[in-house]
Amino acid sequence: MTNTAVYTAFSQGALGQVLIDRLDEAAQFSEPGSGVTRLFCSQEHRDVLPLISHWMEQAGLTPQLDAAGNLVGRCSKAQAGEKTFIMGSHQDSVIEGGKYDGMLGVALPLLALEALKREGITLPYGVEVVAFGDEEGVRFPTTLVGSKALAGSVTPDQLEAKDAEGTTLQEALIAFGCTPKDIPHIARDPAKTLGFLEVHIEQGPILEQRNHAVGIVTALTGIERHRVKLSGKAGHAGTTPMDMRYDALVGAAEMVLAIDSVLQSTDNLVGVVGKLNVHPNAVNVIPAQVTFTVELRSPDANIRQRGREAVTAALQEVATRRSLALDMENTYSADAVTCADWMMASLEQACAHADQPAERLFSGAGHDGLAMQALTDIGMLFVRCKDGLSHHPDEAISAADGEAATRVIMAFLQQLGRP
Ligand code: GLV
Ligand code: MN
Ligand code: MN
Repeated sequence: MTNTAVYTAFSQGALGQVLIDRLDEAAQFSEPGSGVTRLFCSQEHRDVLPLISHWMEQAGLTPQLDAAGNLVGRCSKAQAGEKTFIMGSHQDSVIEGGKYDGMLGVALPLLALEALKREGITLPYGVEVVAFGDEEGVRFPTTLVGSKALAGSVTPDQLEAKDAEGTTLQEALIAFGCTPKDIPHIARDPAKTLGFLEVHIEQGPILEQRNHAVGIVTALTGIERHRVKLSGKAGHAGTTPMDMRYDALVGAAEMVLAIDSVLQSTDNLVGVVGKLNVHPNAVNVIPAQVTFTVELRSPDANIRQRGREAVTAALQEVATRRSLALDMENTYSADAVTCADWMMASLEQACAHADQPAERLFSGAGHDGLAMQALTDIGMLFVRCKDGLSHHPDEAISAADGEAATRVIMAFLQQLGRP
């Protein structure tokens, strides 16, 4: 069968609409409220697995939940231990996120494999598609546990990370039906792994500005996250004189502004204080303790280090001046990684086959490739997103762009089989 026959096997628009319908269906597995909220090892996570398993079976793969909470679909060659190409993305979402961040990269390669299968195309290598359990790091302060498990880089301390209720990651995995003690055994053999490819919504405005459906990712940003605990002293909000207070929230407010000022004045560094908790959080009590998160991102490790040093110095200065106790703990860090040259070139060729312009762009978002790069060569295909919006209920892609990306992946997978 020629490529041309494959590309014309579905009438124009049919594949893209199937993709959109599937992602709409998956989005129903969400906590109530706006957008999609589906956290790692939650009831919603459990409930979406039969749907993804069904897509996997349609694509000719056998689904299985692994020790780290990933749902992995494998073709028979992969099950037999032949060299295998891995695709996939994460099933989890942020709080009130969209339908596409993560789940697009699960649904789309499965649809591409199903379309190839329907055309009678068999790939001469093993394939697996992974719905990683946790990429967003919303429930647990550590993240990428699924992709780290495949790369063999999960450490025992990561399993001790606790969620807001005090449940450890290890406990959550066991309650979910997984066996975290087996995580070391699911590390893939690099010699048998052909590469890892993730399809993802762009989450920014570049492809829309270029008027391109897809783009080829060159590199993924480095990320670090910290938990800051600031302790003062509780007291009566009416009777304690202003100059006798140790108000942790006023200190935290000054710190948030100091962090913003470091970020505003440093090129190639972005960051956020995205989460903040006040204790005791009462209308008439001086705040005794504030915990908040600091996230820093840069493609350049030196810039990120200098940013961290400037932020730390600013926090210490505020804490000392206000006589507050400061405790800062690093909870996650991942160095920037680059996509493999051969993967970018091959995606370019696949885009040409699918009549799609293919320019390159950088990812300011984190992805499972940050961990997978320790195992194998990585590549990423971005799909244009409406208004550059992501981590938002209105996140959207068009059926036409979804179709274009699916056909690029079909072409890519066929190319990969050729000598
Ligand atoms: C994931 O979306 C991230 O970049 O944090
Ligand atoms: Mn995300
Ligand atoms: Mn994502």
